[in-house]
This record gives sequence, C-alpha cells and structure tokens, in this order.
Amino acid sequence: ELGPYAHFMQKEIHEQPRALTDTVEALIDDGAFSTQLFGQDAEEVLSQVDSVLILAAGTSYYAGLTAKYWLESIAKLPTNVEIASEYRYRQSVPNPRQLIVTISQSGETLDTMEALKHAKSLGQHLTLAICNVQESAIPRASRLVFYTRAGAEIGVASTKAFTTQLMGLFMLAATIAKLRGQLGSEQEQEYLDSVRLLPGSVQYALNLEPQIREWANAFAPRYHALFLGRGIHYPIALEGALKLKEISYIHAEAYPAGELKHGPLALVDQYMPVVVIAPNDSLLEKVKSNMQEVRARGGELFVFADADSNFTGSDGVHVIRTPRHVGVLSPILHTIPVQMLAYHVALLKGTDVDKPRNLAKSVTVE
Ligand code: F6R
Repeated sequence: ELGPYAHFMQKEIHEQPRALTDTVEALIDDGAFSTQLFGQDAEEVLSQVDSVLILAAGTSYYAGLTAKYWLESIAKLPTNVEIASEYRYRQSVPNPRQLIVTISQSGETLDTMEALKHAKSLGQHLTLAICNVQESAIPRASRLVFYTRAGAEIGVASTKAFTTQLMGLFMLAATIAKLRGQLGSEQEQEYLDSVRLLPGSVQYALNLEPQIREWANAFAPRYHALFLGRGIHYPIALEGALKLKEISYIHAEAYPAGELKHGPLALVDQYMPVVVIAPNDSLLEKVKSNMQEVRARGGELFVFADADSNFTGSDGVHVIRTPRHVGVLSPILHTIPVQMLAYHVALLKGTDVDKPRNLAKSVTVE
C-alpha cells in the first residue's frame, strides 16, 4: 500500500497534486465558479448570507483562519473563525443570516459536530460542511456540503486533507464573490488559471524534499522552534508549528511576525531555529525587517521564499525557494515545505510518524 514511501504521511504529502486535481475537477470541467459546486440548495442558501462563521478544530481550524482572508478580500463577507470547542460553550450573538461553515476531514469530530448543533439550536440554519469523508455525521447534519477529494487519509497528521480544504474554501470565496457581483469575468478567468496551475506548482514544491531533509538536521537536536508568517501566511506558520509538535514532539510556536517584538523575541538565541514563511506579497518587506530582529539576537533563520521573493542566503540565513509565485493560492503552496520539514525532523527523531503518541485520527470524544 505504501509503494515507494516509508510512511503514510510521506505518501499523503506526495499525493497532494492528485488530491488537489480531483478536488477541483468539477470546477475545471464547468470552467466557472458556480453555486452548484456546493450542492442543489447552494444558490438559495448562499444568496441570503451576510457574514460567515467558520467552526473547526486543529488543522481544520487553521484552514478556516486562512479562508477568512479570502472570504473578506474576495467575497467581501465579514468572517469569523472559532475553535469549535470554545464556540459551543460561549454565549454568542446568533445571526440567522450568517453562513455556518464547519470544516472537518473525518466529518466525525465531536467538538465540531456539537458546535454545529449548538449553532442550529440558536436558529442558525444556513450551514455548509467542508468534509473529506462522504456521508459522515457533519455533512449529514448540514444543508450544503463540499467534499474534498483527498482520498482516505491514514496518517494521523492532516496533510492532503488540509490543502484540499483550503482549495474548497478558496472556491467558496470566489463563488460567493460571483454571486454577489464582486467577481469580474477577467478576475474569474485569472482565478481559474491559478487553480489549474496549482497542482503542478505543488509538484515542484515536493521536489524540494532533499533540501528540506538537510534542514531537518538543524531542528532534530533542538527543544523549541518558532514559525513566523504574516497575513494569509500566518495560519500556515501555525500549521507548520502544529505539524512539528505533533509528530516530532519538538515544542513549536507560531507568531505573526509583527508580534515578535511584543514578547517572543525574548526567547530568541542561537538555540532557537526560526522558520519564516516569506513569499513575495505586500508584506514581504515587513517580514524582512522582522527577520533582522531575529538575526540580530543570534537566531538561525530558515526561510521559505518563492520565486519572486528576491532573497539570498547568508550566514545564519538559509533560504529555500518554491519554484513559482502562485499569487492568491500561495498559502496552499507554502504548506508543502512545512509538512516535509516536520516529517523529516520526526524521522531523525525516530518517532512514530503515522501514529504519534497520545493522538487519534478521529477525535470522537470531548
Ligand atoms: C492535526 C490534525 C488534527 C485535526 C483535528 C480535526 O494534524 O490532524 O488537528 O485536524 O483533530 O479533525 P477533523 O478535520 O477530522 O475534524
């Protein structure tokens, strides 16, 4: 079953070009962002929506945090993202016109299911599930469903489920934008082209594995690591830190790079490797000055840049460049290297990559 791979996690990381291609198949066949992608009732439901609340756990929650940027910038819909187990026990202000989006690979996560039930009990009935397992509990309890087509994910750590969730959420943002008259046809074509090209770009990113394996040597002996990103890449830093924690057992934290000077900079010394997600976007210059703050305290920098970032490595600054700049889909592309980094650090540490201690694939308890 594993083919040439040593673990399911490695196999599933490498399946991402295929998983993404399958997930966008209907979109590419239609050649347009259509509400049909989200089910029969989608036009009726989505046209009533005035805002979005995303509910999820773990890595799926980070997909939600990323989607907030797309939903607000592309669809112009106010979006909140909340950890499912927090939302369900909090007194919130219900809004019947808010779209409740649950994100769950398994479709069985109890925290997320209970959050959905809680939303419905408050009169919030415009519900959409983004899910990888057909006919599981969460999509069955939702009016609209978008199935990611990652295929069975066996490794406990979510990999291809996450990147396909992101793809589904991007499609949602573009579809709602179109419905609300916010998406011009030129922009739509541009997004379709980006979606079409992404699986190939992900394949290129997978080819960086030998370089990332080298980097892993610098992390395996350490007890802590920091991950930095800004804007839409901050959730990808969070995901990188979670992957490293759960499979290599190294303590890792993610910060929006601008927050560094407000506290965590005190942790930085020569024993603190710092990963930076630094593609070329409007925040790149800001990220570069945050990197100098780290370097000045002796922190070693490991930078994931992209083709357009115009970076060169120097003493204590290591750079790996993803081969293409993929614009609005950049968070999906930059997930690939952080997954591979966690995987190779875990290999060096000899942990049980596919079944990390204390964790279960599907968390059906509270
Ligand atoms: C991390 C991981 C978990 C899950 C979380 C939600 O790699 O796999 O954080 O993302 O337990 O699971 P689902 O998406 O099945 O609801």
